[in-house]
Amino acid sequence: MSDLSRRHFLKLGACVVGGACAASALPETGHAGDAVAASTLTTTLPYPRVKLVHLTDLKAGQELRLSYPDNASPISLLKFGKPVLTGMGPDQDIVAFSRYCTHMGGTLQFKADTGAFHCPLHYAMFDAQKGGLTVIGQATDNLPQVELEIDAKGDIYAVGIKGLIYGRQANVLA
Ligand code: FES
Repeated sequence: MSDLSRRHFLKLGACVVGGACAASALPETGHAGDAVAASTLTTTLPYPRVKLVHLTDLKAGQELRLSYPDNASPISLLKFGKPVLTGMGPDQDIVAFSRYCTHMGGTLQFKADTGAFHCPLHYAMFDAQKGGLTVIGQATDNLPQVELEIDAKGDIYAVGIKGLIYGRQANVLA
């Protein structure tokens, strides 16, 4: 194999393995329509930033039932009184989750004695102290978790959701 063909072979192999050459292989057209085509590929709509409550409105062991990102999406805001995985706030104990089961959309009930959400339909359980981890049942996805922010005044905001709310193709409806 000549030196030139060997270099070409190695470069081609790197492209196949890494896919790194795909973008550079495309011609740069510079057409105005390119920007429009790119924007139609964006399916993620911006999440609303919604004030839920103030830190002082939450007591340890309490569940507040709210909705986010719209009224058709029930969530639970929880304060555990001890640090939990992905917990927010001064005690790292505040989390929020969708109340729709990821199996078939049953409306979940939070039970303080287990620290988990329980599904009344087929008995799945999601651990609210471990990021909504599925711990038992037929659900294969963890519970979508609401992303929270707390400002300097202590107001708690919902700003996004990790995971797809059951029954939706997009969390934020157009
Ligand atoms: S709908 Fe929740 S376990 Fe089936």
